[in-house]
Amino acid sequence: MAETITIIDDRTGKKVTVPLRDGVFPSSALRELDPDLRMYDPAFLSTAACESSITYIDGEAGILRYRGYPIEQLAEKSTYLEVAYLLLNGELPTSSELEKWNYDVIHHTMIHENMRKRFVDGFHYDAHPMGMFVSAVAALGTFYPESKDIFNPGSLEKQILRLIAKVPTLAAMCYRFSSGLPFVSPNNSMSYPENFLNMMFRLGDDHTVDPRLTKAMDLLFMLHADHEQNCGTTAMRVVASSHADPYSAMSAASSALYGPLHGGANEAAINMLTEIGSIDNVEAFVKSVKAGHGKLQGFGHRVYKNYDPRAAIIKKAAYDVFDVTGKNPLLDIALKLEDVALSDDYFISRKLYPNVDFYSGLIYQALGFPIEMFTVLFAIPRTVGWLSHFSELLKDDAQKISRPRQWYTGVDKRDYLAINKRQ
Ligand code: SDX
Repeated sequence: MAETITIIDDRTGKKVTVPLRDGVFPSSALRELDPDLRMYDPAFLSTAACESSITYIDGEAGILRYRGYPIEQLAEKSTYLEVAYLLLNGELPTSSELEKWNYDVIHHTMIHENMRKRFVDGFHYDAHPMGMFVSAVAALGTFYPESKDIFNPGSLEKQILRLIAKVPTLAAMCYRFSSGLPFVSPNNSMSYPENFLNMMFRLGDDHTVDPRLTKAMDLLFMLHADHEQNCGTTAMRVVASSHADPYSAMSAASSALYGPLHGGANEAAINMLTEIGSIDNVEAFVKSVKAGHGKLQGFGHRVYKNYDPRAAIIKKAAYDVFDVTGKNPLLDIALKLEDVALSDDYFISRKLYPNVDFYSGLIYQALGFPIEMFTVLFAIPRTVGWLSHFSELLKDDAQKISRPRQWYTGVDKRDYLAINKRQ
């Protein structure tokens, strides 16, 4: 039997019954009752802003699937570029499709010399790489004015390819600039993750990238690729709804990701572990958090009320990386912090578990990335998630320009007050 929900307006006795699909009912029910009704939902806790078929999360069960495939299986068997193809196209590629996709991405990694020479030189020597990245993505779009033609399928496809291919080059450019190192050009004979690590850390002709570290980088890219309607993706969709180009929309999404409550949490988590300094200080730190002094960075999630499945995979992968790089001394503090928090009712009652950002920074640090690069490392793979949602929104006939209403609680009409009459 079809599920329904009935809403009654007690002021008029008017009632409306609408279909309920997967726990979702159309807001048109409210407009049917009274066109002036508004649902007050700050931060959209109970709002489904769109219909999407890209990523599925079950917060209570700790489930994450990209186009139906469990993240655990993709993490074990796939690669980031294969996952990117899946997110964008809805199906895993055939071998010939994957071969062409890999080739096309790898052969679009170069950026215009004006970006590398003139644009980046405009930054202060110690500019934060994420601030540079946000600007660089928007600036990149100015080299492709045809990107404004977002309803031209060929052009949008080309911009999506360019963004996925070029974000590692932009990221490495930001890092090399802020480290005072010469830029390293993309190497088309390398895989996507290997090329990125090479552009980041190459210092001489004898530089090699350990395949085990390339594999770990690719895994981290896969795990960060998409996460349905998170803050950054919501920003992407809101800007896309005004029909802005994908570069400008992605600059907005990157800005949202920059916040410490979102993608900036991996940087904040490492700073927190560093501040704790020793496992002997963990209990006291947890006590201070419970007393309201700060948060456990890398803990908690709006949707996951269970262990973030990505955190479990990253925690395991950390040991593979440490086999190559040596163990990150902060790992013991992180493990102790998780242990103490997960046995403390303050965190259990609030269903606060480690999220994707709790362990990822330990690997990034072991790979040699400076903390300031951590959010950029989140933005690189999330590019395909943002672009998948950009495309999905443009094809969704139910979507229009995002323009929510408000609950006005300000002062009523009043007349202008001459300055000599003001308090
Ligand atoms: C990401 O949305 C996504 O999908 C995001 C993401 C993605 O892939 O795109 O998964 C990536 O952003 C992961 C989250 C990274 N952020 C952090 O780790 C920062 C620390 N976490 C918190 O700030 C918080 O948990 C949020 C922002 C993640 C979620 O916040 P909510 O859903 O708004 O929850 P809340 O702030 O209402 O917290 C509920 C209660 C509160 O206590 P009370 O007021 O009820 O007493 O839990 C407490 C909060 O104070 N709380 C924490 C806490 N997180 C929530 N207390 C201590 N430490 C924390 N980390």
